Amino acid sequence: MSQRHLCPVWVGYLLANPIRTLFQNPEKILGPHLTAGMWVLDIGSAMGFFSLPAARLVGPIGRVVCVDLQQKMLDALLRRASRVQLRGRIEARVCGSECLGIADLHDRIDMALLIAVIHEIADPSRCFAEVHDSLRAGGHVLFAEPRGHVAEETFGASLAAAERAGLRKIGSLRIPWSRAALLEKGGCLEPDGERIGSWGGRAEGVAGVAAPGKAGPCPRTLVGGLQPEPGLRGTPMPVIP
Ligand SMILES: C[S@@+](CC[C@H](N)C(=O)[O-])C[C@H]1O[C@@H](n2cnc3c(N)ncnc32)[C@H](O)[C@@H]1O
Repeated sequence: MSQRHLCPVWVGYLLANPIRTLFQNPEKILGPHLTAGMWVLDIGSAMGFFSLPAARLVGPIGRVVCVDLQQKMLDALLRRASRVQLRGRIEARVCGSECLGIADLHDRIDMALLIAVIHEIADPSRCFAEVHDSLRAGGHVLFAEPRGHVAEETFGASLAAAERAGLRKIGSLRIPWSRAALLEKGGCLEPDGERIGSWGGRAEGVAGVAAPGKAGPCPRTLVGGLQPEPGLRGTPMPVIP
């Protein structure tokens, strides 16, 4: 399957520019969803506009795994992380266009970020399936797409693909210039429509639970990893030299 439009590296510098914070403040956007010690997965992280604030919010025992198709984006992200002493909480992985290569993160991730990336991915269903597999039960996905590029209908189709992969929409999010939703893994519905899960309130009238999609194995390449530290929750991730 061929890659869709790919964000050029020079745009990566624009996206990481602090001026963006004036209308999309990453600390405010992520703050309500992240706490110390969490493991975060940032798909299509580019130069880390969201990954670095996420690393701050999860603290020294949390970690942020950044996955991107373009090595140059991740190289810049790691340089930026080093400058602000966050390098030790961040792992950067280059992926292929067919597969994210995150099978080793099975059931480990508390929160996945899919911000302004799904419209660039050739096979969104596969991406949602891989993200679903990486999340712990009850884990969340912050899914956002730029309004200018992605029509409401297309965003709805992506939400439907996410749901088929087992990621149910549990709320809408207000992020300027974006269409955004919070998704949850394994938010099941009781017969009366009440959702069972960590998020309060009632579900939005979705009938039944779709069978989660399956993502097959694929290789991964590590660009910059961190050494497992004693005391981190779960078993340490292997680091490929
Ligand atoms: C528009 S940028 C968004 C960056 C970041 N999430 C943000 O909001 O600042 C999209 C990023 O997704 C990456 N990307 C595109 N296709 C991808 C794929 N199949 N897998 C992983 N990353 C991909 C691009 O390289 C680019 O860095």
